[in-house]
Amino acid sequence: MKLCRTIADIRADVDGWRQSGASVGLVTTMGALHAGHMALVAAARGASDRVIATIFVNPTQFGDPKDLEAYPRTEAEDLALLEEAGVDAVFLPDVAEMYPPGDETIVETTGLGQRYHGAVRPGHFRGVATVVTKLFNITGADAAWFGEKDYQQLAVIRRMVRDLHMPIAIHGVATLREPDGLAMSSRNRRLTAEDRAAAPVLSRALDAAEAMAPGSSVEAIAEIIRATIAAEPRARLTGLDIVDAASFEPATGPITRPVGIMISALFGEILLIDQREIAP
Ligand code: PAF
Repeated sequence: MKLCRTIADIRADVDGWRQSGASVGLVTTMGALHAGHMALVAAARGASDRVIATIFVNPTQFGDPKDLEAYPRTEAEDLALLEEAGVDAVFLPDVAEMYPPGDETIVETTGLGQRYHGAVRPGHFRGVATVVTKLFNITGADAAWFGEKDYQQLAVIRRMVRDLHMPIAIHGVATLREPDGLAMSSRNRRLTAEDRAAAPVLSRALDAAEAMAPGSSVEAIAEIIRATIAAEPRARLTGLDIVDAASFEPATGPITRPVGIMISALFGEILLIDQREIAP
């Protein structure tokens, strides 16, 4: 497995692969890898001749500098996992490589990216769209795999690729969960023991919503989610959005079409998100 810290380096590898006609799959990460990331790598590995993983803690998608500072960095462990999974090259740039001094170009998402989670974390999806565009341009990958846990992120990236005519296929991969239901996330390792024990309330709330969804309404499932999370004193619900899964417009009334539920909650200072798509 090749480690590339510069754009020139990773491009040299990709150019060589291209000359032999290989297809290139991409998994972008911020490191602190867990089984959820490895499922993305496995999907990319199964569908591509060559796989690139990227590790870059992207400063422009963090609103709070303390959150950026505290983001877990576990490079040695990450590289061991990627090597074992058969990744061909890892791109680990530093901030100056990705954002050249004096840079002045961003990718702004003017609609979906400003709503829901984007309204709670202003600028977050601009940072994601900008760095993902850079990573697509740098690697020239044919396809990229993203987790469905970041439900809105996946939708924002799909729209960006459509709107900007980017020649790359985007694939979503189902959320992986711990045995107690907690969605896997790099942030989980920052939870205190008490908050870790409380955090599965998010998936329990989604289970409750899913169980009552048939024949029910958006308002009723929102109510059961709120009540389930309110019963856990360590959780503070910061976002609950239920959207039409196809249009991402807010859903209301009886559930007659698939809806996506997105929740975010604070456990201490740690913001966790979870999602579920449910059919009528
Ligand atoms: O989902 C993530 O880990 C990040 O938002 C991504 C897509 C790697 C961009 O920094």
